[in-house]
Amino acid sequence: MLLNLKECKICFPIFQKHPNLVYLDSASSTQTPQTVLDAVNDYYINYRANIHRGLYDLSGTATQKYEEARKTVGKFISASSKEIVFTSGTTHGLNLLASGVQNTLQPGDNIVLTEMEHHANLIPWQKIAKKKGMELRFIPMNREQRTGNSYELGVSDIENLIDEKTKIVSFTLVSNTLGTINPAEEIIARAKKIGAITIVDAAQAMAHMPIDVKILDCDFMVFSGHKMYGPTGIGVLYGKKERLEALEPFFYGGDMVRSVSYEDATWADVPEKFEGGTPNIAGAIGLGAAVEFIQSTGFDKIQNHETQLTNKLINQLNSIPDARIIGLNSEEKRIGVVSFLLKDIHPHDVAEILNRDQVCVRTGHHCTMPLMKKLGLPGTVRASVGIYNTEDDIDKLFASLARVMAVFK
Ligand code: ALA
Repeated sequence: MLLNLKECKICFPIFQKHPNLVYLDSASSTQTPQTVLDAVNDYYINYRANIHRGLYDLSGTATQKYEEARKTVGKFISASSKEIVFTSGTTHGLNLLASGVQNTLQPGDNIVLTEMEHHANLIPWQKIAKKKGMELRFIPMNREQRTGNSYELGVSDIENLIDEKTKIVSFTLVSNTLGTINPAEEIIARAKKIGAITIVDAAQAMAHMPIDVKILDCDFMVFSGHKMYGPTGIGVLYGKKERLEALEPFFYGGDMVRSVSYEDATWADVPEKFEGGTPNIAGAIGLGAAVEFIQSTGFDKIQNHETQLTNKLINQLNSIPDARIIGLNSEEKRIGVVSFLLKDIHPHDVAEILNRDQVCVRTGHHCTMPLMKKLGLPGTVRASVGIYNTEDDIDKLFASLARVMAVFK
């Protein structure tokens, strides 16, 4: 149990290796706590073997730990373990979905996304829409009179955009570029009225807020381990059992079949049907440990801590006349993913100087090129907080930003 989030850094070995590191890029990838490293090492050192295949003890232990991780992840989002498919990450989950539903789609149907999607929730749908002769529609951001953009989706547009020809509604719960929390309940309620399949991309949300798929009532949800203190190369596709059963598999091979002849094959039950080949066993076990790490800390504490840091970031940016926040100006409806610009200094130049002070932020288009174009920006500087960040980290960021402004004055 973590009693004090200000001391949370000690749970993450990277901060002992790099004591002056100011890591503000958790939206891209979080760091890894010792408990997750231990779980991964435990597999490799003590019981490494393939799963579902060996009649010997090591393989039995590996299978048991892998399936326990599935249960842990399921409980975390209020799903049953049969509804949890391990993937390599959010991108894999979305490609699997786009490929798996395509046979149910007809020319003239439409797919509804939002203007905030990262490329992973855009390109797979572009490919399917082109192949099937379908229309892609985008829930737009509200226009705001003074600045032009509100950085929030226009809920009133949802009624018109999602119509009887809409077959898929797939949207990001939290924008990876703006930090905005999108109105999932409203979007899903409208999609359900006309019977469209609902997909929630929760990659940026999972480490920062409690999520209950039963309350959200979405058909599918995708997320990644590396953005929630888990290993890289592991992720989850959640699907209601009947929806997963209706979905075509994406990868074919061993472990996803019931029976195979030289001519044909039938599929195993869900979720194995989607886990062809040897999966990322250590990754899944590590993800289970990451979920336990988040649970042992508790979302009340996490949200409270991250909101304080987000407010500090926003207030300090607002106090710099030459800084412009690209996103909502208050902590309401947003998480601690804060994009900004400093005068007309190119984001890459900002990051270059921050790096000299060991301050890590992401710059560029954040895999949301269409959104950047819409906002008329070449990119932004993005600082994003995690459980281990402190007020001191934010002070160091601003001390470094002062140096940037001195160079470019
Ligand atoms: N989607 C990840 C990010 O926003 C990679 O940085």
